[in-house]
Amino acid sequence: MQKPDLDFVIAALEKIRETNDRLPRASRNKLAQLTVARAQPVRAGLAPDASDRRQVTPSNKEALLAPIRERVSACTKCPHLASSRTQTVFGVGNPDADLMFVGEAPGFDEDRHGEPFVGRAGQLLTRIIKAMGFAREEVYIANVLKCRPDMPAGAYGNRAPTPQEMQTCRPYLVEQIDIIQPRVVVALGAVAVEGLLGTRGTMRELRGRWHSYSGVPLMITYHPAYLLRNQSLSEKRKVWEDMLQVLERLEKPVSEKQRNYFKE
Ligand code: URA
Repeated sequence: MQKPDLDFVIAALEKIRETNDRLPRASRNKLAQLTVARAQPVRAGLAPDASDRRQVTPSNKEALLAPIRERVSACTKCPHLASSRTQTVFGVGNPDADLMFVGEAPGFDEDRHGEPFVGRAGQLLTRIIKAMGFAREEVYIANVLKCRPDMPAGAYGNRAPTPQEMQTCRPYLVEQIDIIQPRVVVALGAVAVEGLLGTRGTMRELRGRWHSYSGVPLMITYHPAYLLRNQSLSEKRKVWEDMLQVLERLEKPVSEKQRNYFKE
């Protein structure tokens, strides 16, 4: 659609919205989406192209994420997951975040609530985020998989995603990162690393160093579930040292107290 056509459609919808209090009405959301589309350089479709970084601005990120969220919620690419999930778990937080955390997949609690990292591991992640000096709402949190990996009937716990499931779902995460354009991504655990970089390795060799995801600095650290299993101070300190590197990269001031967390 060309810009003059869009102008015409928006003007017509605004008129309907103002003059008609019965259905069909132009929803505020649709009008906002069209207005965002009009503000972008013209291309074949209505929505700006998130893979073109020039078209993404802090104020249109939410509108760009919305249609991806809708596609995810209707996704049946993994029929076994589409039929077992309560709902998809897209991601949560600030669409214009400097810092983005990527985990592996929703578990039981996330599948129920529709939000990533709300179970025990999630509560620990939230504490880590706060210790870094951020509110949970300031960062963005997503997973490689948007559906909970299915479990045999009556089985307890969660299973890791298969390589096939990750490959199928990964494009959604790629789109999210393309839009959010964080300054730093943190991969939580080996599955997140595999989803983001396609590489397998031991966490011992991967964590604590800077990697790169499509040019975005990527810090790899242990998954909070690992810290729940291994409560030693030394493992907590390792994760914290990784987060201190992240804070430094983001040029965020770090207090002496923060610097010394989890020291022996
Ligand atoms: N573990 C993850 O990797 N992601 C979640 O959302 C919850 C637990």
